[in-house]
Amino acid sequence: MPQSRFADVRRFGSIDSTNRYLLDEARAGAPEGVVAVADHQTAGRGRLGRSWEAPPGANLLLSVLLRPVLDPADRHLATTAVALAAVDAIGALGLGGSGGSGGSGETEGSDGLGAPVGIKWPNDLVDTRGRKLAGVLAETDLLPASGTGGHPAPIVVGIGINVNWPDGDADLPSELRGLAVSLRMLAEGPVDREELLVNLLAALHPRTADLGLPAGRRRLSQDLLAACTTIGKSVRVDLADGSFEGTATGITPEGHLLVASDGVTRSVVAGDVVHVRPRS
Ligand code: BTN
Repeated sequence: MPQSRFADVRRFGSIDSTNRYLLDEARAGAPEGVVAVADHQTAGRGRLGRSWEAPPGANLLLSVLLRPVLDPADRHLATTAVALAAVDAIGALGLGGSGGSGGSGETEGSDGLGAPVGIKWPNDLVDTRGRKLAGVLAETDLLPASGTGGHPAPIVVGIGINVNWPDGDADLPSELRGLAVSLRMLAEGPVDREELLVNLLAALHPRTADLGLPAGRRRLSQDLLAACTTIGKSVRVDLADGSFEGTATGITPEGHLLVASDGVTRSVVAGDVVHVRPRS
């Protein structure tokens, strides 16, 4: 594995939430690069206050502590970096990927064999049928104590990748059938979680290094555009103060989604979005 800043990997058989753990570590002054991986979470957190559940030992449940020197307006790119690293890591398994450029070039993108994986803006990993393969949850803490020791303020980015669960639709609660998928389902056989973890740690290094450079941030946005399954789709954007419908037409160099609606193109910021979904 190339030299990676993600070498401090803390493993847990069972923990409430790897995001919660790293936020506490960040408050105590832990540096960038600490990784928490769990076999099982008893209170895994999802977006919008939801829970994130998976049977013990089946999926990859991981959080990373980042302290990027970033303008507040660019902090959403931390989640993009982790989502793209996951696409790279899955591509390196040889099962599929978006065909992105592989960040700073230290990891190879997928050759697109078999089971392409893309990103539903802003950061869900989905298969070609739009079924969710992974979710990303960034949590931040801008309290002054968080930046102790001269470190920039932390962002904890957690990702849950469906590796060996579900094994099929029958494994899922009825409301998720047809909406979620695992690498095992795409590969039609068990997938090695440890290999995926090694790939992800390797891919995180160049992807998160890109956060610190203007050209790197543009690359993250370009690669998000290349991987993004939302472009060309009719979407409804639910914001905190209302919603609107339109067609997703692109992604700006800053990583914002462009949505054309009633002859006007609006730029949608990830942090503002409650939900983007296909228009019904
Ligand atoms: C989503 O709702 O799509 C985001 C899910 C994020 C789940 C991961 S699993 C590892 C990390 N720890 C958590 O408590 N949540 C994230």
